[in-house]
Amino acid sequence: MCKVSSPLLTGFHIGPHHVTMPLALAPMAGITDLPFRQICKRFGAGITVTEMIASRAVDQGRERTERMAEIGSDEHPVGIQIAGADPEFIRDAARWAENHGADFVDINMGCPVKKICKQVAGSALLKDEPRVARILEAAVAAVQVPVTLKIRTGWDAHSKNVVRIAKIAEEAGIAMLTVHGRTRAQMFNGHADWQDIGLAKQAVNIPVLGNGDVVDAASALEMLRISACDGVMVGRAVQGNPWLMAEISAALAGKPFTASTTPNTAQRWPIIREHLEALHAHHGENIAGKLARKHVAWYSKGCTGSAEFRQHFQRIEGWDAQMRTAEIFFSGDTDQAWLRAA
Ligand SMILES: Cc1cc2nc3c(=O)[nH]c(=O)nc-3n(C[C@H](O)[C@H](O)[C@H](O)COP(=O)(O)O)c2cc1C
Repeated sequence: MCKVSSPLLTGFHIGPHHVTMPLALAPMAGITDLPFRQICKRFGAGITVTEMIASRAVDQGRERTERMAEIGSDEHPVGIQIAGADPEFIRDAARWAENHGADFVDINMGCPVKKICKQVAGSALLKDEPRVARILEAAVAAVQVPVTLKIRTGWDAHSKNVVRIAKIAEEAGIAMLTVHGRTRAQMFNGHADWQDIGLAKQAVNIPVLGNGDVVDAASALEMLRISACDGVMVGRAVQGNPWLMAEISAALAGKPFTASTTPNTAQRWPIIREHLEALHAHHGENIAGKLARKHVAWYSKGCTGSAEFRQHFQRIEGWDAQMRTAEIFFSGDTDQAWLRAA
């Protein structure tokens, strides 16, 4: 058993919403859809945020966009994340998000992807501080719900402006700031700088969440110690590992946690099955089948025979065959009977 000393966080407010567990699931495109957010919520996430939705896409009535904004009754408070370069599009997208039931509207200024940055959206906006202010002011003025912002620490090591952006955000009426402690130039390389997150926290009086490279309870507590921020946002480490939320939330609450918090292979299957069935119900068979490949591969990491299983599972066609194969594997079969299930 591992006893951790907790910073005894009391939570914080996003506007009227009191967040008692200062642990957020990071928005991840193609991953944090409703089914995955609900699982993470159940394991202890205090806040969830949808995948990024392009502000230009919101009024086109596309089924995919609508599905991305679907919110579960069990996941409040939840944010809908929007991205864009144009204050008018952001204003309309913020209203659209509010009308879709978002408890808060989160604006993405952290995405490093070239296609997004070329449109001067995502993290490219960090190079244009006046535009950041215009975008944030437009969003705040457009909706009743709180508006939050997610950023990186700057464009590159020579132009870090996390403190100035944090102040611009506070001035514009942003209710919570999340800082991924990398510059855009770092993409996902190197390490997140938790001290840079701390600089933003010191500069403003709004809640600041720290993000980047939290992988377990110990690293969550260490990030909080170094940055003194109000909460932790976790992304990649929960892929195939949503029960990590239980471990981290226990640590943040000052409760001891044990290795047995992590389900073994057989205990994982009911959770995984529920996740896969929810994917099927939410996306339909075609998309769910593709998403299942990704999630099942992550879930199988560390299990006996997982490399061969992953290779095999990627080639299976048809939902029923996927489910049968996964069930045999996660039931702890050591005879590779899953090879014959499809
Ligand atoms: C596959 C993937 C998709 C992501 N999509 C988004 C997104 O839609 N919006 C966003 O703000 N950040 C996105 N991010 C960044 C994460 O929210 C987070 O900032 C980053 O992964 C660092 O946190 P971590 O070290 O806990 O993963 C994405 C990251 C990954 C790996």
